[in-house]
Amino acid sequence: MAPKSVAMPIVDSTAVFKNDLFNGKVLFCTGGGSGICKGMTEAVMRHGANAVIVGRNLERLTRSAEELSKLTGNVCMPAQADVRHPNQLKDAVAKAVEKFGRIDFVICGAAGNFLAPISELSENGFRTVIEIDTLGTFNTIKATLPYIRASKGSYIHVSATLHHRGTPYQVHVSAAKAAVDAISAALAVEEGPHGVRSNILAPGAIAGTEGMDRLSAKTEGGENLWRKVCPAGRTGDIKDIANATVFLLSDAASYISGQIIIVDGGMEHLRVPS
Ligand code: HXC
Repeated sequence: MAPKSVAMPIVDSTAVFKNDLFNGKVLFCTGGGSGICKGMTEAVMRHGANAVIVGRNLERLTRSAEELSKLTGNVCMPAQADVRHPNQLKDAVAKAVEKFGRIDFVICGAAGNFLAPISELSENGFRTVIEIDTLGTFNTIKATLPYIRASKGSYIHVSATLHHRGTPYQVHVSAAKAAVDAISAALAVEEGPHGVRSNILAPGAIAGTEGMDRLSAKTEGGENLWRKVCPAGRTGDIKDIANATVFLLSDAASYISGQIIIVDGGMEHLRVPS
């Protein structure tokens, strides 16, 4: 059979892992229509997997799915669902299984974020982010678990580092992501005996993402400040998260479960002398 015609990679993890690493595997990724989760999906697809990307905006999902299929030579299917609604997720999972017959990997990445001080954040604003990030993660796990058990597959939940300390204007996201970390740990220990793994990826400041744009807008010096203070001397790139994803989903990580993998260039351990 003639080799598939594939465009030049923009995620270069193929330089580290074998191209056929995930041949025959299927990824289900919430939030995969844009940003970090789209890059994670691309990397997994570049290693042979087909994918289903899930989000609220069908037009954007469809565009992204076409782009990902073209870039990787594998099949990406869009499935519209709001992770706050279990029935919509169940429908998306049913579509995935109808199309591909299985699900091996789940990335829980759908998230909501905005900056707001506690004094001005409404109860509904707080609840909305908890519902998208935390309840959305729970709903995604519930909808996919039978298939992940069947394939002895793996979950990655996209969390953050901001709740490891007190981050201003982020009380809602911090509370939501702390709960996501807890859900992943519980899932890892409960489902480990069924061959299921669950881990957290916690990105630091990743350039060119909505989260970074919003946080930088409130930080004096913006992205330049991150470059100056980060031990790695740079902001993160989506491909940094994508490469960690390929590793965590691969058999090279088969004994890693219930962990929080921080990808932040060393920022977590930086203490500014006072
Ligand atoms: C204060 C706000 C607000 C804002 C919304 N709300 N935006 N409050 N400041 N900027 C309040 C509303 O006033 C309302 O409360 C409640 O939140 C619900 O708002 P809706 O717009 O009705 O909700 P919805 O349409 O579901 O939108 C969800 C959203 C939205 C989260 C609010 O902003 C969104 O989906 N954003 C795009 C997703 C995104 O940001 N992705 C990047 C994630 S990055 P009231 O009381 O008025 O009814 C990430 C990483 C974090 O998570 C780490 C960063 C480094």
